[in-house]
Amino acid sequence: MRMVDLIKKKRDGGELSKEEIYFIINGFTRGDIPDYQMSAFAMAVYYQGMTRAERVHLTMAMAESGEQVDLSAVEGIKVDKHSTGGVGDTTTLVLAPLVASLGVPVAKMSGRGLGHTGGTIDKLESVPGFRVEVDRERFVELVNKNKVAVVSQSGNLTPADKKFYSLRDVTATVDSIPLIASSIMSKKIAAGADVIVLDVKTGSGAFMKDLESARELARAMVEIGTEVGRKTMAVISDMSQPLGFAVGNALEVKEAIDTLKGEGPEDLYELCLILGSHMVYLANKAESPAEAREKLKESVKTGRAVETFKRFLAAQGGDASVVDEPSKLPAAKYVINVEAEQDGVVSSIMAENIGTAAMLLGAGRAAKDAGIDLAVGLVLQKKIGDAVKKGEPLVTIHSNREDVEDVVKLIRSSYTISSGSVKKPTLIYDEIQVLGG
Ligand code: URA
Ligand code: CA
Repeated sequence: MRMVDLIKKKRDGGELSKEEIYFIINGFTRGDIPDYQMSAFAMAVYYQGMTRAERVHLTMAMAESGEQVDLSAVEGIKVDKHSTGGVGDTTTLVLAPLVASLGVPVAKMSGRGLGHTGGTIDKLESVPGFRVEVDRERFVELVNKNKVAVVSQSGNLTPADKKFYSLRDVTATVDSIPLIASSIMSKKIAAGADVIVLDVKTGSGAFMKDLESARELARAMVEIGTEVGRKTMAVISDMSQPLGFAVGNALEVKEAIDTLKGEGPEDLYELCLILGSHMVYLANKAESPAEAREKLKESVKTGRAVETFKRFLAAQGGDASVVDEPSKLPAAKYVINVEAEQDGVVSSIMAENIGTAAMLLGAGRAAKDAGIDLAVGLVLQKKIGDAVKKGEPLVTIHSNREDVEDVVKLIRSSYTISSGSVKKPTLIYDEIQVLGG
């Protein structure tokens, strides 16, 4: 087999066999296939797409390129969730303990944030003492004991994807649906869960800006998961504005605690109930998603959800007293309001810019190995559809630097205030399942 022939075959619209796709991925991972050929291949896929069978082979070739986590020692049906990334998306922090409180095992590996999107691992590190580095044996032990553990990705998971993604990043081939779907699913499959619930975001703060491409990505991922025997479904949710109010690490932990107590933002709670109800249902702990939803609400009401969160924090070395005393979380030196300059109704918020504003304060990383400030971030006081009067706060800045003129400017330019009434955006656009799932 020669790589040049396979590039040509894809370029001309042919379908690659399983053997050919494994040849490409294994050769590239080993270093036998050079970057220039792999770049040409990525561009051919960008223009020609991939069939359903090709996507499955690509996903599995990447999933099998490194370690595959063996969760067989965890009792029960293991569930995982994945979000395609957004601004102030606090769902994992809420969902992991919430779903676990019903006895569903959540064995979650998470990443750190990059750019305008935050990472669950960073957020958890704002709880004093919390350890994210946990070896495999202990990870399984924790899940068996508490039904939940969230640890940082370690070991040699999907090296093929890591290498290919870096190459796509510099060859303008990231935004190809078959490549994105295979990339995400290879990581989820290697991480070992039986059930995968995907939260595909759409809107100004999302990777997929429009609904049709979000739907297409969701369908592609659900097809792959189902085909390889994982129960997979996707929810398409709104990211035309940040989720909840808080954007920033410790601020989002506080927001997650509020939500687990039933006192959080409505949109965040609702999305967690929807995603959680599918996780619980697919793990066979309820007869229907509707029944699962009632059980989840009950768990919040009785305090079982927040107790599970405390146990989870303590089990990984974290100070669980932050749940009752959030003032123990890192706090910023300066708290500054950005006030509205006119009366009206908020008609749009550029979510990505809000994420960037939080990053400028130090809440996110501009580069991969940059440090972050866990205390800083933003709290939205007004969201789309809210009426506002001149001088009222739109956003509260939590900062460790006194001069925040750049951040204020960016926030002001992200908000559009109009006259007349504005409808609140739909939170959930669609749910995607495929036959056999
Ligand atoms: N996120 C991923 O993990 N992979 C992609 O290809 C794009 C976004
Ligand atoms: Ca939030």
